[in-house]
Amino acid sequence: MKVTLRFYALLVVLSAPLAVVQAQSSTSDSLLPAAVYNGGHNGTTKVGLRIANGGAGQSGLIGAWGDAFINYMVGKGHEPFTVEWYLGDTTQSIEYLEKGQVDVAVTYNEAAERQVYDSGLVSAWLYGFHDHFYFVGPPSNPAQLSTNDSILAMARKIVQVGNQQAAVPPTNGTVTRFLSRYDKSATNIKESEIFVKIGQVPWAYAYSKWYHQYPRFPIQALEAASLLSEYTLTDRGTWLSSSPDVRSRLTIFKAGTDNETDILLNPARVLIAKKDNLVDKEIGQAFGEWVVLYDEQNKTGGQNVIETFTGTGQTGETKEPLYTRAPVNWSPANSTAGQ
Ligand SMILES: *[C@@H]1O[C@H](CO)[C@@H](O)[C@H](O)[C@H]1NC(C)=O
Ligand SMILES: *[C@@H]1O[C@H](CO)[C@@H](O)[C@H](O)[C@H]1NC(C)=O
Ligand SMILES: *[C@@H]1O[C@H](CO)[C@@H](O)[C@H](O)[C@H]1NC(C)=O
Ligand SMILES: *[C@@H]1O[C@H](CO)[C@@H](O)[C@H](O)[C@H]1NC(C)=O
Ligand SMILES: *[C@@H]1O[C@H](CO)[C@@H](O)[C@H](O)[C@H]1NC(C)=O
Ligand SMILES: *[C@@H]1O[C@H](CO)[C@@H](O)[C@H](O)[C@H]1NC(C)=O
Repeated sequence: MKVTLRFYALLVVLSAPLAVVQAQSSTSDSLLPAAVYNGGHNGTTKVGLRIANGGAGQSGLIGAWGDAFINYMVGKGHEPFTVEWYLGDTTQSIEYLEKGQVDVAVTYNEAAERQVYDSGLVSAWLYGFHDHFYFVGPPSNPAQLSTNDSILAMARKIVQVGNQQAAVPPTNGTVTRFLSRYDKSATNIKESEIFVKIGQVPWAYAYSKWYHQYPRFPIQALEAASLLSEYTLTDRGTWLSSSPDVRSRLTIFKAGTDNETDILLNPARVLIAKKDNLVDKEIGQAFGEWVVLYDEQNKTGGQNVIETFTGTGQTGETKEPLYTRAPVNWSPANSTAGQ
């Protein structure tokens, strides 16, 4: 019975995300938006802004930003327009931006952003919001992690117990396995950074038996980890946007905080294309000013959306905000990446 269930569950996981992966690998000529937002101004067809992002698009934040920004501009006397969301991880989003296919990339890799910014390929590099990484795993906890362990100590236990169990599989319980996003996403880069920090490269040939390469988008990857009883790195937005079923099959062992030095803090930054590449120069530039705006009086800024946004995936009575506000006084001069 258990085997059948698991096989069926696997089929569901394996079949669902394929459409997304195919859409994502479509060629540049056929790049299509994953969603188009009009702020309630039905019938509007003029494209004002094109935004590329992965997880925050899936959680609905890009849509909430789009709708709020359209209405902010309309409130200031601007004609209605649409905001398009293009699905892509950090690497793809930057590529779309460089090719002039989008106006904005919302990304999660400071070193990669620093490179784009230093090459003069963007007109602005802004701090959008805080997402937070969550280190999660099966409640059976075969690697015996303690929530008091540091994230590096947890990684060490997974390597040690994973290697032991690969040699001598346990007869009484779950095997220790780690699900890697393995897709060059910001989460994949963060999990790799954690393993490298403890002197491990489990993805190198011959790759470690406990290291499960599963390149899919965030929600699908977390669902797979929950069905396969594997440890994985995810983010708070993905966690809260996942079904209660998925979450009930996992335990949070470590959650990122708002401390800028926390290795599990996931800063989302906003890259705005060069003026000449913007589909609408006025709207593109206005978005850069709006997205960092925290307006305590009218509550209409991009940071006000961050503070209240709870996503579309939460079904409980009390919904928690998915993200937290960006620090107010950040500029590219604050970044130490790549130095
Ligand atoms: C616009 O379209 C949406 C979805 O089709 C609908 O729910 C909404 O009532 C429409 N709004 C107006 C003002 O017509
Ligand atoms: C974590 O540390 C605190 C304080 O030292 C202790 O009270 C608690 O029992 C520890 N929790 C676990 C899971 O070890
Ligand atoms: C399985 O057996 C090992 C070794 O005997 C023991 O350390 C571990 O706690 C057991 N696990 C479970 C889930 O019972
Ligand atoms: C952030 O973490 C660092 C290192 O643990 C600590 O020294 C610092 O006090 C923390 N900052 C805040 C604002 O909590
Ligand atoms: C809030 O809106 C009012 C009326 O449009 C405007 O005068 C005021 O400057 C706005 N407040 C902020 C902080 O932008
Ligand atoms: C950025 O640097 C400035 C100048 O050193 C400093 O005042 C500010 O607090 C820093 N901001 C952040 C978010 O670290």
